[in-house]
Amino acid sequence: MDTEILKNTQIKEAADFLAKGQLVAFPTETVYGLGADATRPDVVKDVYAAKGRPSDNPLIVHVSGPDMVWEYADNSYKPLAQKLMKAFWPGPLTIIMPIQPGKLSKAVTGGLTTAAFRMPNNKATLDLIKTFGKPIVGPSANTSGKPSPTLAKHVYHDLHGKIAAILDDGPTKLGVESTVIDLSVDVPTILRPGMVDSDDLLKVIDNVNSDHHKVSAGEVPKAPGMKYKHYAPSAQVIIVDDVNDFKQAISEYVAKNVPLGVMATEQILKEVPSGIKTFSLGEDVISASRDLFAGLRQLDSDHVQYILAQGFPDTGHGAAYSNRLNKSAGNAHYKK
Ligand code: TXA
Ligand code: MG
Repeated sequence: MDTEILKNTQIKEAADFLAKGQLVAFPTETVYGLGADATRPDVVKDVYAAKGRPSDNPLIVHVSGPDMVWEYADNSYKPLAQKLMKAFWPGPLTIIMPIQPGKLSKAVTGGLTTAAFRMPNNKATLDLIKTFGKPIVGPSANTSGKPSPTLAKHVYHDLHGKIAAILDDGPTKLGVESTVIDLSVDVPTILRPGMVDSDDLLKVIDNVNSDHHKVSAGEVPKAPGMKYKHYAPSAQVIIVDDVNDFKQAISEYVAKNVPLGVMATEQILKEVPSGIKTFSLGEDVISASRDLFAGLRQLDSDHVQYILAQGFPDTGHGAAYSNRLNKSAGNAHYKK
């Protein structure tokens, strides 16, 4: 199958592919998603196949607005959910709620009694869902285990020949996936950190827990996706937590005599000796989050063996960045 690249105005063409039961990658403010008709288990199964994704890992149901949610979700969660939707939708917050029995297939929910809902902040995709008239599932549009795609060309690289089309809307603005919050438990719980952080949430709801710690062997993770190897480039990533350690870290890895990459903010890159592949994370944790996945992919295509990547404190917006970087590094940190 040829994969067509569609312009962000070719909404009708994209919707027609979905209506035919085909897969279309779509832009969001976080990362590109892999879209399919959420009401058809047969095509939802194709999403798992295209990504090589384990089938017990449920998918986010993308909607064009709250009304579409209440056709599927248990309405008793409306008062709480509506507060969050009003404050953060459209935007990078995914809300997990119990669903009305039988309303969504096991292919979408992974057999759970809950489902994840999200209204992305992207005009082309909201138009697409409205034109299509039904919700679309959308995991990140990468091969399972690889960094999430923040450009249409990343999607093409991983999935061309396996999907009908990519709706190209340029680089995504935020670069890390949405915050996932579970409302089906006593205290609303963050299962995956994103750009809506716990301080943002606490302005709207009274209480919130975090549950995005590392899952140890034997423990059943609340968000099934959190147990799999993630965001991993072919190179080994090593996190440099203290910027003052970069100089020493670089000379230690240069001594290994294998291709080295450094991914850091401009200030640090200024000091990197020539001959080393570099990728700029911009100025701060916001630009670093936006460009992290693109950097991992770029340095992979430069065929480096190690990537020294700048760490940021694990608080506020840094929580999302640190969570993704730790996964891509398999928790490897530079030690003097
Ligand atoms: O920003 C995003 O959320 C992107 C864009 C495309 O919208 N999507 C995305 O989807 O990151 P995905 O499939 O890569 O990640 C969804 C996460 C997984 O960790 C999955 O296990 C979890 O949400 N999840 C989905 N439904 C769930 C449920 N009912 N209960 C617990 N976790 C759930
Ligand atoms: Mg993903």
